[in-house]
Amino acid sequence: MRPHLRAGGGSRDRGRAAGRGVRPGERDLGLPGSGAMTDLLTLRGVTVGYGRHHPVLHAIDLAVGGGEVVGLVGMNGAGKSTLLKAICGGVKLREGTISYDGQDVSGLGTPELVRRGMSILAEGHRVIRPLTVEENLQIATMSLRGSAVRRRLAASRELIDELFPVLHQRRTQLAGLLSGGEQQMLSMARAIIEDPKLLLLDEPSLGLAPLVVDRIYSSLSAFRERGVSLLVVEQNSTRVADICTRMVVLRDGRITATGSPAELVGAALTSAYFG
Ligand SMILES: Nc1ncnc2c1ncn2[C@@H]1O[C@H](COP(=O)(O)OP(=O)(O)O)[C@@H](O)[C@H]1O
Ligand SMILES: [Mg+2]
Repeated sequence: MRPHLRAGGGSRDRGRAAGRGVRPGERDLGLPGSGAMTDLLTLRGVTVGYGRHHPVLHAIDLAVGGGEVVGLVGMNGAGKSTLLKAICGGVKLREGTISYDGQDVSGLGTPELVRRGMSILAEGHRVIRPLTVEENLQIATMSLRGSAVRRRLAASRELIDELFPVLHQRRTQLAGLLSGGEQQMLSMARAIIEDPKLLLLDEPSLGLAPLVVDRIYSSLSAFRERGVSLLVVEQNSTRVADICTRMVVLRDGRITATGSPAELVGAALTSAYFG
């Protein structure tokens, strides 16, 4: 039997998208590629900057559909991390709106977004270093109560053990003593337990050995197969092109290209990256 991300299995997003259909104007952002699907996350005219500095992002329009995997790529300094921070309340919007699951979430902080089914893997390996591997996993169930905690852990355990057997071996070890790759695996395992509708990742493969990157991308494929929407930020477009349905290129805080990985190759990609 295949392990499921969600107790009971199935994909609530695909079901919901199919049931509700697409309302006129739901995808009117002029972004080709993903076809008819209900948007789970929509950024409209998002402009942000730090302090009194010039904006880092300029009027960004971006949508992630239910079950869609979007790869957000671009050079160092293009504004990719800032875009994720704008989504999860880490930087204030100067203009524009962000909606998620049909509601305006502009300005909401990360804890509230997590409660609503968004998981966020920020840059670096954000594990709770003084806690053990097992305690880190249990904390991912914080929003649940009583027997729901046990059910969620049990439902996720099989998939986590299959993808990251090393975490089982290290379960009593402090997370701060894990290698960088193991910490990233632990972050992914926590996301599996959180059972998100939308997962945002900032350069999940940065600085990791190729074998570890394979593991991380296997887990992203597992999310994708279960209908979870993904927004994956990567500097290196090759890896993310393998799993995404659509790539979006960011350069100097503006979207310069969007299309399927097959459309965005060679000269088209180079010119979107570098101008
Ligand atoms: N906390 C900050 N304060 C001021 N400027 C920042 C801050 N974080 C990022 N920047 C600037 O914003 C721009 C985009 O950065 P970032 O979003 O980190 O790019 P990327 O993730 O694509 O490498 C860069 O010019 C960077 O120097
Ligand atoms: Mg970054």
